[in-house]
Amino acid sequence: MRASESDTTSITGRTEATDFTTSQTFSTAPTASQFGVPNNNVGDGTTDGEGEEPVVNIDLHDSDIDRPPSPAPSIYSLTHSLREDLFTLAHGRYVNNHSEVYHLPADEEEIDRLDVQHFMFKTLIGRNYVGPVQDVLREEEGVQKDILDLGCGSAVWAVEMAQEFPHCNVVGVDLAPIQTEPPPNCRIEVDDINLGLDHFYGCFDFVHARLIASGIKDYYGLLDEISKTLRPGGMFLSVDWDFRVMDWNKTLLPAFPRNHPRHAWFPCFSRAVGMAIRARMGNIDAAVLLPRWLKGHRSFEEVDSCDLWIPSGDWFPNDTKDGLKMNAVGRLMKRDTKAFVSAGRPLLLSSGLPEAEVDELIAETIKEVDLGRRWWVRVSATWARKKAGTPAA
Ligand SMILES: C[S@@+](CC[C@H](N)C(=O)[O-])C[C@H]1O[C@@H](n2cnc3c(N)ncnc32)[C@H](O)[C@@H]1O
Repeated sequence: MRASESDTTSITGRTEATDFTTSQTFSTAPTASQFGVPNNNVGDGTTDGEGEEPVVNIDLHDSDIDRPPSPAPSIYSLTHSLREDLFTLAHGRYVNNHSEVYHLPADEEEIDRLDVQHFMFKTLIGRNYVGPVQDVLREEEGVQKDILDLGCGSAVWAVEMAQEFPHCNVVGVDLAPIQTEPPPNCRIEVDDINLGLDHFYGCFDFVHARLIASGIKDYYGLLDEISKTLRPGGMFLSVDWDFRVMDWNKTLLPAFPRNHPRHAWFPCFSRAVGMAIRARMGNIDAAVLLPRWLKGHRSFEEVDSCDLWIPSGDWFPNDTKDGLKMNAVGRLMKRDTKAFVSAGRPLLLSSGLPEAEVDELIAETIKEVDLGRRWWVRVSATWARKKAGTPAA
């Protein structure tokens, strides 16, 4: 019961940006430029500064539960040493220090990318979700509704959902803290989903997981955990990439070698990233397998899914509303792809690929995106309801 207990005990009292005395909860993230600079003013005020490391306030609720400790124990002040503990510099980008699996950056540049990507999804879908979310979250007198966002990234989705559904409480969980102050009905916790969700059992009506598969060791096992966090009738929504690249006509574009007439760099980049993720035990197949997994799961019913097709650029005629929309999506995808390709550098280098090869792959892929080569990326949205007769945990 770490999260829900500490909810009431320690989330209050957030009075200034540097006061992080919350339950694994951060209202402001360290910026990449801050990481290298010792900052003794950051903390809980229990130090008089001048080279002295501020005191870290730790309440180890974690010792009571049957799982390894989280990256950030229950009650914390974010000190310089904690920042160093949470992030590490890998090939010029800051990545989280705690997950062996997820190795994309967790710095300002990446947060900007995630915000662009979020806006791209919103432009495409017109809102923040698909499926019967409004029905699940409708206001009912005397009933508290709760939303969990797994791998919340910059927390932009969690914050917007808190604004759209002010009668709901939203909890975001990520390996890295966030940069913005969430609204009062939203809180962000720093934790590793791979450690289990037992502290959340029976607490949520809607669980959302967007683009997190690459950081998940056992996605099939995670479904069990998610089902237990849901109240009966609650809903799970996954939105995740199919790591394969599709050609202009939405057929598979394989990673052909460079002397092949259909060679393109982006499929080669995607394949290399996929292999690097797999080598770290992350998942790249969840988008394809989730409908089958959920249909076969004893706790879920009403499984449904749809494909979201994202173009690599703005090649659509501008004379229809849909064309205008798809061009806007394509332009955002161009930005996202270029930033993603750069963000993949630490991951690719950590997989053992030679630096020259990685840098060529990145430079050529970015060039290809700029040149406007046409392809599609498929994102699968899959949702299901928790069977009403199933116990919460
Ligand atoms: C590609 S980002 C997507 C962020 C957000 N869901 C969105 O759609 O904007 C993936 C996020 O999942 C987080 N993540 C990956 N594996 C995780 C894990 N095991 N536990 C917690 N967070 C994880 C990463 O830190 C990162 O912020």
